[in-house]
Amino acid sequence: MVFAAGYYIGVDVGSLSCDSVLIDEANTVLSSIVVPTGVSGQKSSETALKALLQQSTLEFDQIKNIVSTGYGRERVDYAHKAITEITCHGKGATHLFPDTTIVIDIGGQDSKAIRVTRAGKILDFVMNDRCAAGTGRFLEVMARALEIELIDLGPISTRADKSCPISSMCTVFAESEVISLLASGNPVDQIVRGIHEAVARRTMGLVQRLKPKAHDVVTLSGGVAHNQGMVAALQKFLDMRLNVPAEPQLVGALGAALLAREKQQ
Ligand SMILES: Nc1ncnc2c1ncn2[C@@H]1O[C@H](COP(=O)(O)OP(=O)(O)OP(=O)(O)O)[C@@H](O)[C@H]1O
Ligand SMILES: [Mg+2]
Repeated sequence: MVFAAGYYIGVDVGSLSCDSVLIDEANTVLSSIVVPTGVSGQKSSETALKALLQQSTLEFDQIKNIVSTGYGRERVDYAHKAITEITCHGKGATHLFPDTTIVIDIGGQDSKAIRVTRAGKILDFVMNDRCAAGTGRFLEVMARALEIELIDLGPISTRADKSCPISSMCTVFAESEVISLLASGNPVDQIVRGIHEAVARRTMGLVQRLKPKAHDVVTLSGGVAHNQGMVAALQKFLDMRLNVPAEPQLVGALGAALLAREKQQ
């Protein structure tokens, strides 16, 4: 009997990045890509598709099922189905780390904490999508105010021996606070560490609403997990084990690809 190989794609159109993953019947990742979403989720999802097919030397007809997710999930013309981010991040995180009981996704414009079963089923979730504080946006605004590159925030904060606390909860006020802390001579590394701790405290506010226990295991997803200063700040406040994927921006897209394969069967 000839076995017709099938391939599946998950595409996560976020506010900042459009992330996509191509898997085979055995759930092996054959190719993946992160491109900027830019002004058009439709265009960026087309760019991601082309790149995946090119990398894997597959034709579009060989893709059996495609699931889109993320804030721009309805913009993906070629997807067969759209599934919420909560479901896809839960699925992707438990696939990568089967011991996960809580997923924290910190993206460019929102953050969420999701309680999952080991099989990736969603039990509960809380979300912050009303305010930039506690998201990647907050870090971007602060990096700009300090005139440092976003990717340098992590290395700078890990140099600090203590943190300079940021008390404002609002992004606009926190930006002014950061500028005046700098003007009063506080070291940049301590301010940056304080910024990370402010985001981590905000994230802890979400996690607390899931009534965490010491045996919970947290998996981080979203681009903010690239920032080692943020990971260190979260680890400081979380009383639980923390898994950090090698490619945190792909967790939602991976979950979407896995669901595309499951739903086909
Ligand atoms: N290399 C990096 N170093 C540090 N931070 C990074 C890096 N790459 C991305 N980020 C952070 O990740 C954030 C974007 O995350 P992500 O790509 O997961 O967002 P998104 O999925 O587009 O947004 P959302 O899910 O809110 O719609 C940026 O705001 C930035 O703070
Ligand atoms: Mg996202």
